[in-house]
Amino acid sequence: MEKIKASIIGAGKQGEVHARTLSEIPYVEIVAVCDLNKSRAEEMANKYGIKEIYTDHKEMLEKSDCDFVAIVTPDHLHAQVTIDSANAKKHVLIEKPFATTRKDIFDMLEAIERNQVRAMVDLHNRWSPPFSTAKRAIENGDIGEVRSGYIRLNDNKFVATDMLAWSANSSILWFLGSHSLDAISWLVNSRVDKVYSVARDGVLKNLGIDTIDMYQTTLEFENGAIVQMENGWITPNGNTAIIDFKCNVLGSEGMININTSSHDLIQISNEKRTITPDILAKPIIEDKMAGFSSNSIRSFVDRLIDDKPFQVSVEEAANSCLVLIAILESANTGKAVKVEY
Ligand SMILES: NC(=O)c1ccc[n+]([C@@H]2O[C@H](COP(=O)([O-])OP(=O)(O)OC[C@H]3O[C@@H](n4cnc5c(N)ncnc54)[C@H](O)[C@@H]3O)[C@@H](O)[C@H]2O)c1
Repeated sequence: MEKIKASIIGAGKQGEVHARTLSEIPYVEIVAVCDLNKSRAEEMANKYGIKEIYTDHKEMLEKSDCDFVAIVTPDHLHAQVTIDSANAKKHVLIEKPFATTRKDIFDMLEAIERNQVRAMVDLHNRWSPPFSTAKRAIENGDIGEVRSGYIRLNDNKFVATDMLAWSANSSILWFLGSHSLDAISWLVNSRVDKVYSVARDGVLKNLGIDTIDMYQTTLEFENGAIVQMENGWITPNGNTAIIDFKCNVLGSEGMININTSSHDLIQISNEKRTITPDILAKPIIEDKMAGFSSNSIRSFVDRLIDDKPFQVSVEEAANSCLVLIAILESANTGKAVKVEY
């Protein structure tokens, strides 16, 4: 079988997940990597045997012969590289969130449509076993009609203060709200009609990071369901897991509870601390990255090959970002905001 050729733009932490996963798929060859920071690109190229190294994505798109591009730049920097990749007739796998401004969202959709390339956003919770099991149960009618929900996706402070160099250019809403909104919208199976959000800041600003601490948001869906969504970046670093992810979905005839972070499947303790290790997103099995973080990337490649629809459509991912923009407006104005699609 002829190998499908990939290139990666953004050789940071999540770029590593893409590189490792793609390098472990026998029918994929990573032909090029690009990062503004040459040493990062070189490090990734050496580790995964990637022949071409670039610091300018336009040069890479011009010279490199690839079928698709994995776009793994920071949240606010997806637009230009996506548009340029689409104009170069490359399919694109874009990290979440799709984009962070209305202009970027519509410019990206236009470029994808005009160039007839395929695009998926890596909203990988749809591959997470508890969420995909919940989705099947809802589709089976096991809990009747979904009426309400609660979803909490928070990170330890460390992610904002140390892990991401660009946290002040983003927010917990873009970084994790994009995931929680996609997961709950998928379960509710409807678009958000109206949002009301309240935000608080101060803790991270006192630590020198100019971003919001938390958003508490009420989402009203077009099908009548109501959801409370919580996204915060100030969970104590001593928490047993980096993320705190809980979800409840209440239907007319049943209920689903999910807790993917403080689960009881395994805990590891030493004299100082107990941790609940991740076993769902990126467990290493037989020396390969298994779990939903890599399964979404594998699925993107498989759907390119069999030409079937992606599990996440680019329109759904774009709509989610329009909801996040409405949430920001609501938190800024103190008023409920109707989402403008
Ligand atoms: N799916 C997930 O669960 C998940 C997890 C972590 C991060 N992410 C997403 O992945 C993206 C990257 O996050 P990260 O943690 O890897 O960030 P990072 O800061 O570790 O890496 C980003 C890299 O992009 C490079 N870059 C920026 N602009 C560029 C450009 N124009 N051309 C080439 N390289 C460029 C930077 O130099 C940097 O090396 C973000 O959108 C983030 O939200 C997703």
